[in-house]
Amino acid sequence: MSLRFLPFFDSISISEGLVAMVTICIVYILLQKSRVKIPEGLKQLPGPHSLPIIGNLMELGWNPHLSLTAMSERFGHVFKIHIGSRPVVVLSGSETVRQALIKQGDEFAGRPDLYSFQYINDGQSLAFSTDQAGVWRHRRKLAQNALRSFATLKGQTPEYSCALEEHISKEGLYLVERLRKVTKADGCFDPFRHIVVSVANVICGMCFGRRYSHDHEELVSLVNLSDEFGQVVSSGNPADFIPFLRLLPSKTMKKFVDINNRFNKFVQKILREHYETYDKNNIRDITDSLIDHCEDRKLDENSNVQVSDEKIVGIVNDLFGAGFDTISTALSWSVMYLVAYPKIHEKLYQEMMEKIGTGRTPQLSDKTNLPYLDCFITEVFRHSSFLPFTIPHCTSKDTSLNGYFIPKDTCVFINQWQINHDPDQWKEPSMFNPDRFLSEDGVEINKTEAEKVMVFGLGKRRCIGEYIGRSEVFLFLTILIQRLKFSSLPGEMPDMTPIYGLTMKHNRCMLTVAPRPGFEEFCSESLH
Ligand code: HEM
Repeated sequence: MSLRFLPFFDSISISEGLVAMVTICIVYILLQKSRVKIPEGLKQLPGPHSLPIIGNLMELGWNPHLSLTAMSERFGHVFKIHIGSRPVVVLSGSETVRQALIKQGDEFAGRPDLYSFQYINDGQSLAFSTDQAGVWRHRRKLAQNALRSFATLKGQTPEYSCALEEHISKEGLYLVERLRKVTKADGCFDPFRHIVVSVANVICGMCFGRRYSHDHEELVSLVNLSDEFGQVVSSGNPADFIPFLRLLPSKTMKKFVDINNRFNKFVQKILREHYETYDKNNIRDITDSLIDHCEDRKLDENSNVQVSDEKIVGIVNDLFGAGFDTISTALSWSVMYLVAYPKIHEKLYQEMMEKIGTGRTPQLSDKTNLPYLDCFITEVFRHSSFLPFTIPHCTSKDTSLNGYFIPKDTCVFINQWQINHDPDQWKEPSMFNPDRFLSEDGVEINKTEAEKVMVFGLGKRRCIGEYIGRSEVFLFLTILIQRLKFSSLPGEMPDMTPIYGLTMKHNRCMLTVAPRPGFEEFCSESLH
């Protein structure tokens, strides 16, 4: 007998299965007996019937964003499922999610204590750990300040408006050369493999003051392993909710633990080097600024929250991790859409030629001049919804939403995919159509429509890297579109099927590029 219907787990023996099931049955019956009392005036959460032991795991299937969207049509925008015996509230619908994350922000700002989260950043993660509200708020503020300072710092030469623009621009130009060289040598390339190193170099520049070669084995293998990471920390991973599954052999879980260990070791080594060479009068990067903060004051004066040095300097681990996977996934999807929709690719190129031409490298300030590109990026975010759920949330106290009672410490999934494909909000939601965001006169993006798209979360836990994320996706893409034409290999169609995870990836594939007129020569200025 096997438990192969449960995602992520390999076969187990009948006796192991029976012992585990009996134990879970007893726990399930005990839990049923201690059902929560609903305060007067509030309703019990609706939701599907659940099975003992596994809850609604079977209905979640391999694509929880789709199955939970289908359930929201049956049960409404607030409903409850069980994963194992643990209740999980699922929120969808723009209004409901805004009410929870903005108007009742404090009540929904916690993180649940999920099994897989303890392995991330040694359990000290800013994004995934169950830090108390005061500690989390203090660390989040520090991280926001550090990102702001090092993104807006002056570039090394006056041609760049800021350090962020300089990092992206240099890496973008290098990526163009790299893709051309690989195409010339091999005839094709795997876009994610190269994009992820360029993107990682931008955040490495800000966090660690260094970049890595595209042939640096340790970095390349580390950043190319993010698929397994995303699969385990995605919303609905069975082992997070059903304790006995953790005892079973799982290759994915083993890989996940291994990735986290390697990642932590990689960052620890850089931290050690920074401590050894730290000079108060020469703050080189975000790591130095965090060390400096620890040296200056160990106590948060505003909230009197004591935060250890380890937790402060460990913030850099979160920034590095969050800073490459999300953006490279967005860029990789963007390139896939260019290949799948060649007419849109041409229209973007024409806009680029009219507004920028071939005489200079695009800049961040070009964004308002390139409304069609802005609409394209927004439509990639909406259509792919490559972050189908936010990181899971948790209620910090007993609360209610839309008249339903939700107890303290309830795990909450926010279905961003549903919001971005809601037929009540979007005309033909499954169509890829950047024009849906263009203003009536066609000269700018319709901001009201664009703000309906949800990919960075909302409210207290909203992504702190949104400005950097949007800037990188925009500037990398302008540089790529100005200089390269992307195509699939003859006779092949791009496979746009998403693979479920915290960030959904497309299947790895091979593409090819040709230089655009004016960029036939290899550029000698780019980095090496
Ligand atoms: C296209 C790029 C990006 C997307 C789509 C994205 C999306 C998200 C989402 C959906 C969340 C979870 C929000 C929630 O739980 O409600 C998040 C959290 C977070 N993001 Fe991003 N992100 C991006 C880039 C970045 C970058 C570049 C950084 C840092 C350099 C970053 C740092 C973080 C951090 C630290 C959190 C945790 C915040 C907290 O728990 O308080 N992100 N992001």
